Amino acid sequence: MADGKTRAAKAALEFVKDGMGVGLGSGSTAAEFIRLLGARAKARKWKLACVPTSEDSRVLALKAGLSTCALDEVKSLGLAVDGADAVDPNLNLVKGGGGCHAREKVVAYAAKKFVCIVDESKLRKSLDGFPVPVEVLPFAGAHVARAIERDWDAKAEFRRGGGKLGPVVTDNGNYILDATFRRVGDPRELERDLQCLPGVVASGIFAARRPILIIGRKDKAEMRA
Ligand code: 5RP
Repeated sequence: MADGKTRAAKAALEFVKDGMGVGLGSGSTAAEFIRLLGARAKARKWKLACVPTSEDSRVLALKAGLSTCALDEVKSLGLAVDGADAVDPNLNLVKGGGGCHAREKVVAYAAKKFVCIVDESKLRKSLDGFPVPVEVLPFAGAHVARAIERDWDAKAEFRRGGGKLGPVVTDNGNYILDATFRRVGDPRELERDLQCLPGVVASGIFAARRPILIIGRKDKAEMRA
């Protein structure tokens, strides 16, 4: 039986057309989309140029039989499809649970349409207190953490991985801070202000680009835009 993630991923397939450049997000919901897209592209003999947002998604896409390329190899991205960790009622997102949000943001903001696929567990009344991943240059990490704690009512900690001692290193060779803001306020302002801190590569707040949201519920997929 399909779960919410699969149901949302399946509904997102309807946005794909033959010949498109498609941005592939990262995480378990995006992985479902990649799997289903591979099957549909094969059945319909579609030619797609898929831009993965992580090494993980690149490997999944190749396994699913999709052709992948780098962002600079496609003239335009018609669509990007990705998951999220938290969604507020105004469709502001927090992403980066998998540490891929810097590339995810570039791809989502570059695409003509950005479709976000989630199950019900991601819906929240507000983003207050939800940890916001912030990718930082290693050189600047501790400095950025101090600046976040000084300028906001927040706590910022380096993300540590499993299987290796030390901080998580992203696909871009950077570190991640998980910053918990007691009150997020205006998510667009927070996104902009974090981006202005020298040393920040990208935050996991996605507020400047409104997605088409697909929520996979128990019995249906619901769309909000
Ligand atoms: C990865 C992400 C993912 O989209 C987010 O963590 C959601 O993951 P999942 O679909 O596994 O719940 O932002 O950086």
